[in-house]
Amino acid sequence: MPVSKNKHLMESTLDYQAFLKALQRPNLNLVADPHQYLLSLSQRSDCEDTFHIVDLTSLFEGFQLWQHCLPDVLPHYSVKTNPDSMIISTMALLGAHFDCASKGEIDLVLSLGVDPNKILFANPRKSPRDILHAKDRGVRRFTFDSLEELEKITHLYPTAQLLLRMKTDDSHSSFHLSTKFGAHLDLCYHILDTALSKKIDLIGLAFHVGSNCCYVTSYKKAIFDAITLFNHAKTKWNKQLSILDIGGGWPGSDDLTFRKIAAIAQQIIHDHFDPEVQVIAEPGRFFAARTTTLAMHVLGKDVLSQHDRTKMVYFMSNGVYGFFQTSLYFQYDLQQILQEGWQFYPLKPPSSDLTYPSLLWGATCDSGDKIIDQLLLPELNTGDILLVSNMGAYGACVQTSFNGMPFSQPYYLARNSI
Ligand SMILES: Cc1ncc(COP(=O)(O)O)c(C=O)c1O
Repeated sequence: MPVSKNKHLMESTLDYQAFLKALQRPNLNLVADPHQYLLSLSQRSDCEDTFHIVDLTSLFEGFQLWQHCLPDVLPHYSVKTNPDSMIISTMALLGAHFDCASKGEIDLVLSLGVDPNKILFANPRKSPRDILHAKDRGVRRFTFDSLEELEKITHLYPTAQLLLRMKTDDSHSSFHLSTKFGAHLDLCYHILDTALSKKIDLIGLAFHVGSNCCYVTSYKKAIFDAITLFNHAKTKWNKQLSILDIGGGWPGSDDLTFRKIAAIAQQIIHDHFDPEVQVIAEPGRFFAARTTTLAMHVLGKDVLSQHDRTKMVYFMSNGVYGFFQTSLYFQYDLQQILQEGWQFYPLKPPSSDLTYPSLLWGATCDSGDKIIDQLLLPELNTGDILLVSNMGAYGACVQTSFNGMPFSQPYYLARNSI
């Protein structure tokens, strides 16, 4: 196991029993088996057509895995990924800090008792109103990626502490954030020189390799680019930058790939950064994805005969205006959608081993409301419940009430033991 230089993380470690004790909330159910719990929920008359369970034990397990693989890296949970208060307060309990993208996210995190010093305002382009709000609430750290934003923040908040966001190669991620954010390396030198010549409190660098990035070279290249900038600040300005923020992007449900990427990132950090440099990250999907299993009903069914094959068509109680906005983003491409780590399976065991290519339509009257096509599934019937696991990232938070559809009802659980 890698050795940690980060004292803060070690102090926050709870054992599972202490975690459960501290987690007690009126709306939390202690269960032995989440699947049994789903079965019992499905039989309740007050249960909506779509509901989801949030397993807070999975945050404990995610945190343990993170600490094991990246002991030198302090996670700042990315609130945008899933701003559920139960998830945020559990992450706070575990010792995480927070990445907020707006005034609203800052207020949410503060309302749950988090210290403003544990918040990084990590939206590179912010409204003046949000900057002043952060200042008023005691949030001091911001990311930025341009001279214009540098000017804006320092004008409104001269004592802000700033992290310059670099552009990365995000071509191997599912969501390409560098098309919108980050300064090219050449520009980073210029911005850094400008900031340090004006004695602005530039404390470090940040990057994001794109969301759901399973390509270790992207992380490596970004860390080595940061090393050249750290060296430049030291040599030219005698300035030791104190923070490196290695962003989000860490896969949410592929722990094997996470372990491989993390081992290399941890090694480079350990070998190249002084112990006084604090390394932080902004993981969202890594923690959130694993928490949530969505349950949706089959509202209707067609059986199509295509040549000599049978294709099933189902009308579901959720869709792209609910948890599945990502399907729209990927233009329904089966492989890209499955890359998200979602697992589709019926709540009750199927009566046969046969599977059929299946099309899942969403609940609204929009023909663009299509969840997935050509997915192999056992035969379902109207009234059945289909589960989708690893749905905790960018699902609950993007729901709309288009067509008057209700939001999915969350049920919170922790497991009795692990
Ligand atoms: C600035 C920032 N940080 C962190 C994240 C979280 O990324 P992920 O969920 O891939 O870890 C995002 C996602 O869009 C982001 O924009």
